[in-house]
Amino acid sequence: MDGVTIIDHPLVQHKLSLMRKKETSTASFRRLLREISTLLCYEVTRDLKITHETIETPMCEMQAPLLEGKKLVFASILRAGNGLLEGMLDLVPAARVAHVGLYRNEETLEPVEYYFKAPESMADRLTIVVDPMLATANSAILAVERLKQQGASNMRFLCLLAAPDGLERFTKAHPDVPVFTASIDSHLDENGYIVPGLGDAGDRMYGTK
Ligand code: PRP
Ligand code: URA
Repeated sequence: MDGVTIIDHPLVQHKLSLMRKKETSTASFRRLLREISTLLCYEVTRDLKITHETIETPMCEMQAPLLEGKKLVFASILRAGNGLLEGMLDLVPAARVAHVGLYRNEETLEPVEYYFKAPESMADRLTIVVDPMLATANSAILAVERLKQQGASNMRFLCLLAAPDGLERFTKAHPDVPVFTASIDSHLDENGYIVPGLGDAGDRMYGTK
């Protein structure tokens, strides 16, 4: 599918399978999510632009490669996005962070916004929006709309699992936002859950069910 990258690194796929298992404990689920997020971060930032600066090593001067441009923004869709955010910040500690608080109304599957806080200057920064689950895509579509209203114009969406319908809806709504996912699963069930999926990501992270 155009605009969609599947991150098929064997370590990502192995950890994802462990996360899917229903017997995986809350503690292990959280640890795996943090580990997997560093690997996903590595892939989603693979083509960042590099500039060269003169530095001095203990031996001599050299032209050293460093990241070009303004600091990245990581935008976490609460709650479950925070599981990905933590590992990404381990790799890019200087990133700015936006929080978009949304939950799905379980009946209508429409997202309800309860919090929004983002850096003031987003226009010149690459923004990576993170949420483990892209199901109907209603949450992701709204989160990206809100970030665009805040000035973000260069975004990527990173998730663990995506449903085919959700991916299609998202890429139609935001064709300018490439999606990176570890898996495209089979379908959504009648309650809007990804199958085979991993269940409710937020509940599994925080042990709330
Ligand atoms: C989950 C998930 C996404 C959303 C995906 O969050 O983390 O944000 O559902 O579903 P969608 O693509 O159909 O919108 P949830 O609403 O359960 O909130 P939580 O993260 O607070 O648990
Ligand atoms: N949100 C989740 O946490 N899991 C799903 O399967 C769908 C939406």
